[in-house]
Amino acid sequence: MGYIGSHTCVELLDAGHDVIVVDNLSNSLASVASRIEQITRKKLDFINADIRHQTVLQSIFKQHQIEAVMHFAGLKAVGESLEQPLSYYENNVTGSLALFGAMLEAGVKTIVFSSSATVYGEPATVPITEDFPLSATNPYGESKLMIEKILRDLAISDSGWRIALLRYFNPVGAHESGLIGENPLGAPNNLLPLIAQVAEGCRDLLRIYGNDYPTVDGTGVRDYIHVVDLACAHIKALEKLASQQGVVAYNIGTGQGTSVLEILHAFEAACQKPIPYQFVTRRPGDIAQCFADVSLAEHDLAWRAKKGIAEMCVDVWRWQSRGVRS
Ligand code: UFG
Repeated sequence: MGYIGSHTCVELLDAGHDVIVVDNLSNSLASVASRIEQITRKKLDFINADIRHQTVLQSIFKQHQIEAVMHFAGLKAVGESLEQPLSYYENNVTGSLALFGAMLEAGVKTIVFSSSATVYGEPATVPITEDFPLSATNPYGESKLMIEKILRDLAISDSGWRIALLRYFNPVGAHESGLIGENPLGAPNNLLPLIAQVAEGCRDLLRIYGNDYPTVDGTGVRDYIHVVDLACAHIKALEKLASQQGVVAYNIGTGQGTSVLEILHAFEAACQKPIPYQFVTRRPGDIAQCFADVSLAEHDLAWRAKKGIAEMCVDVWRWQSRGVRS
């Protein structure tokens, strides 16, 4: 019931699916389950367990008739992955192996996997298409690449597997109810939660990493996608897998690049106050520009991101300022 998983639960329940959530609550709160139920007025089955415990997974697969899995469970902080690589391989790769093993044993071979644009490493050009070369620049990215590879090998070993690799660009925003959103434990790493904390007054200013990139205003450009649009892409991918075997990767973004300063100004408009900032040197490992070519997902999944930057910022601010995060 982390950030993306919780929003996808809402869309799944709204689409009439029964959902069982398995989460070890390492970076999320049990109270999110009741908020999802409040939004959808449907029952959510929540199991507090760690996917690395394969016996627990085995019994879950035995006790329920599961048709498909969406796999969001993993650590995701780039900097932390450089400091604690074993923890990233252990959680992300070992956890995935335990999950896939339990799925295989139960004969459940349909999965939507949370991959990331990080698998493109330092792309030579933008927009990025799914056939760009893949590489990793840190253990987090390496773990995503490894899991993609494991899933590809599973598909080679058995044509019964139906696998969608969703390569997320920069997920932001929150549910319009203001009841669920991004709630990182500890200091956030990502731009929007940091801007929101400055707006709320719990941080003095935003440090902008670099104003000398070859971009529209010198600041880094990313493809920010509203988390509800991203959640909807999971439902579309699941529907697609009903008629498609094998493995396929989709870029999930808007196809639009937005600079740090553009986001900052959109957030100022949303919260109606100035966001103090300061330019500092580039963050090691950052690239100038990263945005998706989303034509494959649009064509194959009949899906398209609908929400723009202004809506993303309004929704983050509503979530941040309502303060229902505990
Ligand atoms: N930024 C700042 N100041 C901050 C934080 C971020 O200026 O305090 C800038 C970054 O330099 C970058 C942009 O805001 O230009 C976005 O940074 P994020 O950290 O929010 O996101 P990244 O694009 O760097 O990283 C995201 C995911 C990673 C993933 C990566 C590549 O968080 O998990 O995309 O796909 F690996």
